[in-house]
Amino acid sequence: MSFTTIEQATPRLTRSILAVPGSTPALFEKAARSAADVIFLDLEDAVAPDDKEQARRNVIGALNDIDWGGRIMSLRINGLDTHYMYRDVVDVVESCPRLDMLLIPKVGVPADVYAVDMLVTQIEQAKNREKKLGLEILIETALGLANVEAIAQSSRRLEAMCFGAGDFAASTRARTPAIGGLNPDFGVLSDPDPEGQRHFYQGDLWHAAQTRMLVACRAYGLRPIDGPFGDFRDGEGFLAAARRAVVLGFEGKWAIHPSQIEPANRIFSPSAEDVDKARRIVAAMAQAAREGKGAVQIDGRLVDIANIRMAQNLLQKADAIAAFSKALAG
Ligand code: GLV
Ligand code: MG
Repeated sequence: MSFTTIEQATPRLTRSILAVPGSTPALFEKAARSAADVIFLDLEDAVAPDDKEQARRNVIGALNDIDWGGRIMSLRINGLDTHYMYRDVVDVVESCPRLDMLLIPKVGVPADVYAVDMLVTQIEQAKNREKKLGLEILIETALGLANVEAIAQSSRRLEAMCFGAGDFAASTRARTPAIGGLNPDFGVLSDPDPEGQRHFYQGDLWHAAQTRMLVACRAYGLRPIDGPFGDFRDGEGFLAAARRAVVLGFEGKWAIHPSQIEPANRIFSPSAEDVDKARRIVAAMAQAAREGKGAVQIDGRLVDIANIRMAQNLLQKADAIAAFSKALAG
């Protein structure tokens, strides 16, 4: 390890993050009964400009009156370039003790996060707010990705970053038929095989950007979250995108439709076999340590101390899921 130690953000279970527009109160109760780990009430892009004030009032009522269970409640505020943003923060944070996090969209520079932190800190002090509010942000512009390492270190309140493919495509002028989806033109054409055949392999146009954000998150102790997959009728496409994300190290994915919650929870949960194997690794390594060995064999594979770290992460997650499921069950 480096001599520099990095503090890890408060661990929170964030396999599925359900987006709920603040302008559609009819969806609130249903969302509260869903199995989403996190719900973010949206005041930004899902809300038309004429509805912004009413949506803010709806959200305040909903956070105070609805029983959201033990899950994390987040609020997506409007961008720092709009005049809605300061009231989103002041009005909602001042009057909603239930709120856990603010989601800041289109962050471009560290000062964007710093500014919100300053405002939140003043409100917390003035109102003696008991719960310390966390911040999460969207990396969804070229500027945000260009500054992602500095943004990751911008505030001690910052806990997570989400990759937003929709606005990212708009910002970089990428061509994508649906938010977070692929483009059939993006791929490689193989050289001819011995029969002279060439094959086209489709690629993932988000991979480089997602990986850059993920590395910045992990380097500075934040949770990386994958954002929306817009075509909610394409269940297989969603599953494939979620699987790619979990393999890379993401902690969860947005659900822009309730049908995406269960698949996200499943994909971002360790399987029973993985948990069993992790327990065996931890037990075998403890035994190896007692015998003065640094590595052992499990299922015919060499296992060393790096595997213990992975196994411990996985077991921690399994424990958090068990605790959350218990809390949801009542
Ligand atoms: C999310 O906000 C996105 O733009 O993808
Ligand atoms: Mg966006």
